[in-house]
Amino acid sequence: MTDRYAVIGNPIKHSKSPQIHQAFARQTGADLTYERLLGNLDAFRAEVRAFFTAGGRGLNVTVPFKEQAWALVDERSPRAESAGAVNTLIPLADGRLRGDNTDGAGLVRDLSINHGYLLSGCRILLLGAGGASKGVAQPLLECGPEQLVIANRTADKARRLAAALIPLGSVQGCGLDELEGRQFDLIINGTAAGLRGEVPPLPNAVLASGGWTYDMMYGNEPTAFMRWGQQQRAAKALDGLGMLVEQAAESFFLWRGVRPETAPVIAQLRG
Ligand code: ATR
Repeated sequence: MTDRYAVIGNPIKHSKSPQIHQAFARQTGADLTYERLLGNLDAFRAEVRAFFTAGGRGLNVTVPFKEQAWALVDERSPRAESAGAVNTLIPLADGRLRGDNTDGAGLVRDLSINHGYLLSGCRILLLGAGGASKGVAQPLLECGPEQLVIANRTADKARRLAAALIPLGSVQGCGLDELEGRQFDLIINGTAAGLRGEVPPLPNAVLASGGWTYDMMYGNEPTAFMRWGQQQRAAKALDGLGMLVEQAAESFFLWRGVRPETAPVIAQLRG
């Protein structure tokens, strides 16, 4: 019987997840369908339950439902617990629902495996303290950077996010206006500024010589933050397409116990 999977979000029509999971299915010989579901902003819980009651085998959750998904599951992985957001729903044999978050693993794998970046010992600046940054802050810190600074327009949100991670490493939260005179080897954009073609205001020379930039967003054209990175002479200015494929692979692995090859799928999407 064909296994049914889907991604739920609102909006959802531009999601590349079906294309990615169908490529994984072809590659691994899996018999499955993977569709887009436009989530109803007031009926998310009922829609999720209906999907699994009808035999659905797994659901990805995207904006704006990741926090609601976190709240509705019966159990959570430790990384989902700390992220406060769930992007992968897994039905358990006893009918309960497990929530996981593969975003952070996706970012770390894209940087460290696909691009060969050594996160250990480097100075990382993470911009934003919303859902996107929450999902990746702990996995980044677990890679052992010299320091992780989380900077947000609303400083308090960054301070709160950092405070919860202090036991795990050198982490600090601050406002975007507190970065003057500081330098980082890797700057990751987790803000929503790019949705309006904007870049968070940053001081000159905040990117160290030879440093990299990474935008968790992606698009058909270079994103505003990628262009900013190029202007700052970043050694690499990356977008989030690799992260998207890696988080999908991690979800596929959770559902099916098989880890698909990501490089050909990233190449296909870039093509
Ligand atoms: P998501 O779940 O997609 O991350 P979110 O929770 O609304 O969305 O968070 C958006 C993030 O982008 C926040 O960190 C937000 O800063 P505030 O907390 O101060 O609102 C940040 N953001 C959005 N637009 C921005 C802009 N133009 N410049 C800088 N930061 C911006």
